[in-house]
Amino acid sequence: MENIVEEVTELYKQGDWRTIVNKFRSHPNRNKVLWVFPTEENFKFIANCMLELKCETILSVGCGSGLLEWMITEATGYPASGIEVDGAWWHCKYAPPTFITLLLTNQKLDKEIVTLLGNSDRTALMFCYFNNGPAFEEYLEKFSGNVLIIIGPGDGKGVHTDPRPFGDVPDQWNLHRTQEVGSTKDYIAVYYRK
Ligand SMILES: C[S@@+](CC[C@H](N)C(=O)[O-])C[C@H]1O[C@@H](n2cnc3c(N)ncnc32)[C@H](O)[C@@H]1O
Repeated sequence: MENIVEEVTELYKQGDWRTIVNKFRSHPNRNKVLWVFPTEENFKFIANCMLELKCETILSVGCGSGLLEWMITEATGYPASGIEVDGAWWHCKYAPPTFITLLLTNQKLDKEIVTLLGNSDRTALMFCYFNNGPAFEEYLEKFSGNVLIIIGPGDGKGVHTDPRPFGDVPDQWNLHRTQEVGSTKDYIAVYYRK
């Protein structure tokens, strides 16, 4: 089986996000670099939601390698940055590749991140396969913007995330639109608050 990390890195260098998403969406080792590989239709969906909800940037929490964030920017033109928990993992020689510059924080949020979250009026806060419910609540609490994107498994996929795309979002958030990622039972759910 081909080495997904090397292949994706090569395609990344060539700017070829289309081949990355089409080739690896169902690859058994895909989560070495990313959990969800959106379709071209999904990228258009995200771009439309950004336009409808008057957002200019995306801030992705728990972005991992940042591959999704890089592809979103390439496919939609919207800048996307990503936050990760600082840890030996990102600095060790076996660390996964990173496709954007990561903003690193401690589990207890760094002051810079709190300030960034508080100055995020035209930003969509994104969580893709995030797995830390209490941290999700804290990020939301500090976030000044009004748009939230959750990507994760729907019922029946047999995988758990926290938050899930549906059912874990506080009441003041309203579901704007949702779209499945191909036929994967993963969903992109876009919420807004007034
Ligand atoms: C399952 S991975 C998903 C990574 C990426 N979004 C993807 O879809 O491939 C969850 C990520 O959330 C990160 N994470 C967990 N708690 C976090 C926190 N409090 N702040 C930022 N990132 C966190 C983990 O380090 C991990 O990389």
